[in-house]
Amino acid sequence: MSELITVGAAEALDVQQVHDLYRSYVNRSQVSLMTSFGFGRELVDHAEGAYLHLRDGRKVLDFTGGVGVLNHGHNHPRILAARRRFGENKRMEVHKTYFSPYLAALGHNLAQLLPGDLSMSFFPNSGAEAVEGAVKLAYKYHRGKRNTILRSDISFHGKLLGSGSLTGSAQNTFAFPGIPGVQVFTYGDLASVEALVAAHKGDIYALLIEPFSASTIRWCTEEFLRGVREICTRENIVLVFDEIYTGWGKTGSLFYFMRYPGLVPDVVTTSKSFGGGKSSISAFVAREPVFRKAYDNLNDSLVQSTSTTYYGFGEECATAIEAINVVVEDDYPARARDLERVLKPGLERIAKAHPDSVSSVAGAGALWGVFLDGGPRLLDLVAKLVPGGIAKDPQFRTKFITTSVINALYTDHDIFTYYTLNGKNPLVVAPPLIATPAEAERFVDALDATLSQGLAKLVRRFVTQKVGSLW
Ligand SMILES: Cc1ncc(COP(=O)(O)O)c(C=O)c1O
Repeated sequence: MSELITVGAAEALDVQQVHDLYRSYVNRSQVSLMTSFGFGRELVDHAEGAYLHLRDGRKVLDFTGGVGVLNHGHNHPRILAARRRFGENKRMEVHKTYFSPYLAALGHNLAQLLPGDLSMSFFPNSGAEAVEGAVKLAYKYHRGKRNTILRSDISFHGKLLGSGSLTGSAQNTFAFPGIPGVQVFTYGDLASVEALVAAHKGDIYALLIEPFSASTIRWCTEEFLRGVREICTRENIVLVFDEIYTGWGKTGSLFYFMRYPGLVPDVVTTSKSFGGGKSSISAFVAREPVFRKAYDNLNDSLVQSTSTTYYGFGEECATAIEAINVVVEDDYPARARDLERVLKPGLERIAKAHPDSVSSVAGAGALWGVFLDGGPRLLDLVAKLVPGGIAKDPQFRTKFITTSVINALYTDHDIFTYYTLNGKNPLVVAPPLIATPAEAERFVDALDATLSQGLAKLVRRFVTQKVGSLW
């Protein structure tokens, strides 16, 4: 056995040593893939607010929003203080047999902030666990007598076996086993929901939908959302809104569905920024009568809580309490709308100025997608430069073009973005909600300057710079 690495020694590892350890102990192909990008070849020293500070002193503007986790930015001072207080007072983290004041307060706060009688909460760790908890609740609500569940064709609900089988994303490239009875409707198409309801009359226990799909940057109309609410009420189907990504102000309202007064699902799921960028915590919140019918008796009182050891831990709940207080006090939905006032016209201007590169832009609040498309000549160029890649993945060319733009934004402008692996693979513009309108303007100018170079040049440059060998 070689000597164990201490935390201090881990912090002193250089990037080459970290790559080597990943190759030996984590995933060799991940190193090949991620070193294609500038950020895979560097290490972050520390992160604060909207910025990453790299080991070499570079300061990078983080417009990924941590893929939904970082509405508060990195290491928000109030979140850090809440966690420090918890540790310094040696609060109790683990036991469930003593009641937790933190868990109690967090449940209370969610009930105050969510509409209607959405008031009964459970707090596991990840989004996938929250989704699966919601599905179990719906199944139990119907006492196991219904066996069909509906999800949309573009859904993303997680990657565990259960949530993965409810996910329609192109990321699902291997057929793992999943939960039975899944039927698929077309996102936003009420007629396709009605057709499934008729075909599976009386057998559907739940309908799962993302009101705003962050992985494709598409969203449901008010008419569709109110329509599924009506159908689910009529058929006694448990309606689950998955707002794991879009909660806590991201799209300009506290949750996306809350822009429509009176619209209340039976269960809503949340995670990501719920933990303030520090705590791995999620929740499903159910309407009281739905929760009561499923679990409110002595026999079942621990059925849900035994789903995972790590539910409702003290510091995780304390962090979430502080995170949602910050969201409310600093009016994060309004901050997202302030960012939208720069991003919407800015990105629309870019789409107009670069019609050969940008097919469309779409979004709401601080969550936007730039859909890149270089036309047939550029696609031929990608095919010539990376002949192996095309056959494996029909979206490869779009991904490659988008990756080239992300790489140029990073290298030339010190701005970090990402693209989604679902839908048409848009470049995602998702600043943290502590970012300023001036930073959003900086992003718009940088994207404009990048696209002015022309996609062909950006693609060629990315191929030349790339050090990985997967493609
Ligand atoms: C809408 C939605 N649902 C579920 C999940 C799964 O969450 P997790 O990755 O924490 O399991 C995600 C994650 O991106 C998501 O965006």
